[in-house]
Parts: sequence; C-alpha cells; structure tokens
Amino acid sequence: MNNNKTALITGATSGIGFVVAEHLVSKGYNVIILGRSRQKLDTLSQHLTSINSNVKLDKVLCDLSSLDSIKKACESIKETYTSIDIMVLNAGLWNFQFIETVDKIEETLQVNLLAPIVMFNELKVIIPKNQESKVIFTSSGLHQGIINFSDIEFRQKFSGFKAYRQSKLGLLMLTQWLSKQSINTGISFYSVHPGMVNTQLGRSAGWLSRTIFKLFGKSKEKGAQTHIHLIDSNCSDLESGSYYANSKVTKTTSYSYDMKTAEILWNTLEEYVRNN
Ligand SMILES: NC(=O)c1ccc[n+]([C@@H]2O[C@H](COP(=O)([O-])OP(=O)(O)OC[C@H]3O[C@@H](n4cnc5c(N)ncnc54)[C@H](OP(=O)(O)O)[C@@H]3O)[C@@H](O)[C@H]2O)c1
Repeated sequence: MNNNKTALITGATSGIGFVVAEHLVSKGYNVIILGRSRQKLDTLSQHLTSINSNVKLDKVLCDLSSLDSIKKACESIKETYTSIDIMVLNAGLWNFQFIETVDKIEETLQVNLLAPIVMFNELKVIIPKNQESKVIFTSSGLHQGIINFSDIEFRQKFSGFKAYRQSKLGLLMLTQWLSKQSINTGISFYSVHPGMVNTQLGRSAGWLSRTIFKLFGKSKEKGAQTHIHLIDSNCSDLESGSYYANSKVTKTTSYSYDMKTAEILWNTLEEYVRNN
C-alpha cells in the first residue's frame, strides 16, 4: 500500500457524503467506504477511481441498522488496517413512521446515533493518538429538545421529527463528551451541521417536505463545505468537541452542553450493545 493517510466514511453513496468522499480522494487519502448496497459501493468506487487512481479504495459492506453487520465490518477493517486518520461518520436517515431494526431497536436511534458511536468505539484502537486524528459526526441544526430517556425509541407515540432531532442532539452531545474524555489522547472530535441540503434524506417524507427540500435546500457540494473545512484544517486551528456550521464553531442549546446527561446517554447506548 502507498504511504497516504487513510480516511473512513459512511453515507457516501449519496448526498453530502458523496461530495466529502470525492474531496478525500482528490486530497490523496486512501478511503474505506462503507455502505449497505454492493452495487452502490461499486458505482461509487469506480467514480472515485476516476478522480484519483493513485489512492487505495476499500469497499466494506455494512448495514448500520444491524449491530452484527457493524461489528463484522469493523473486524474486517481491523484485520486490514493499522491506522485510520480521519473518520467521517455521516450516514443518516429520517423516517416518517416507526421502523424496528433486526436488533429490535427503533431505526433512527440505531442508524443515526448508536451506529456511529459503536463504530468509533470498535475502531478507536487503530486511530493514531498523534494530535492529528479526527472523528467527524454529521449532526444537524435540528437538535433542539431533550433526550427522551423515559421512551428513547418513541415507542409510545412515534414522531419521526422528534426521533431525528433527538438522534442529532445525542451526536453533538457525545461529540463534546468524547472530546472531554479523550483530552491528551491525541484524537479530536467534531460535529457538523451541513445546512439544509437537497439530498435523498427526505425520501420517505410526503411530497410537501420533499418539495421544500428541493426548492430551498442548497446543493450537496455546498452542503459538504463544513466537512471539507474540518478535513483540510489542522487540528490546532480547530476546537475539539465543538459543533460546526458554515465552517465556524456555533453555539447550540443550553441543554446540549450538559455533560452529565451526555454520560447517561453514553451508558444507555452501551446497554443497547450489551443486550444485543
Ligand atoms: N440534507 C440535509 O438537509 C441535512 C441537514 C442536516 C443534517 N443532515 C445529515 O447529513 C447526513 C447525510 O445525509 P444526506 O442529506 O446526504 O442524505 P442522503 O442523500 O439520504 O444520504 C444518506 C446516506 O446514509 C446512508 N445510509 C442510510 N441508512 C443506512 C444504513 N442503514 N446503513 C448504511 N448506510 C445508510 C445512505 O445509504 P444508501 O445510499 O444505501 O441509502 C446514504 O449514503 C445525514 O446524517 C443527515 O442526517 C442532512
């Protein structure tokens, strides 16, 4: 293998992640692309090779709605790689009805929040502790509200909006929490709001929401700019633990800074893993 740095990305088969993956290969990173469709991974890999044929691309099948699939994917990555310099944990969905995964967990909670945390946890042993490694989570400006600990899967009364918002709030809280836990480990953590972007995210929404995204959403190229800023900047010029929008550190709700709640959330997610 060449001596290039290695990046891992989820959710690159469409939307914002697609542009971020293009950027990573254009910058000379070897890229591990994770996706749930073999065909989409093949098409993406061919496209990325056409941008830069001098990087190594690895396609790893991984369905984030299955803890078993995540664990198998991470095992195979650890067998092949000794280091991952940048992780872009970007995949996400927005459901408009209650869907349970194979693990019997509400899908938004599992794919948007549990999956990226499990993936980081499984792979952290191969993240170099060198002050340059970055873990980037795709959060959202829709992060208001609270973590609904009494019914974190919204089983009693499902709201796709609340489930989505909670998953993104959880991600930005755990970004801060991980950063505080990891002081002096040499790994930096960032969460990102890409803005309102015209992508496939609202695919299961009604026609009205889809039309709003189409009419008012920015292009995926513009939506990827904050991720690109974080990838291209030195960690010393960034603020680990912070939430970035428009390529700047941005304030979030006062609730989101409560690290006791973040710790309870971390423990809750750990319990899901233990029970599966
Ligand atoms: N668009 C916006 O306005 C907006 C705003 C704020 C935050 N975000 C966040 O940005 C991120 C990227 O979304 P996007 O807007 O680019 O939407 P998108 O075009 O729908 O892309 C979502 C990506 O996630 C992948 N994914 C979904 N479920 C998966 C699963 N079970 N296993 C593996 N991969 C899965 C999709 O794979 P497939 O191709 O296989 O479906 C796709 O690559 C998401 O986290 C989203 O919440 C978006």
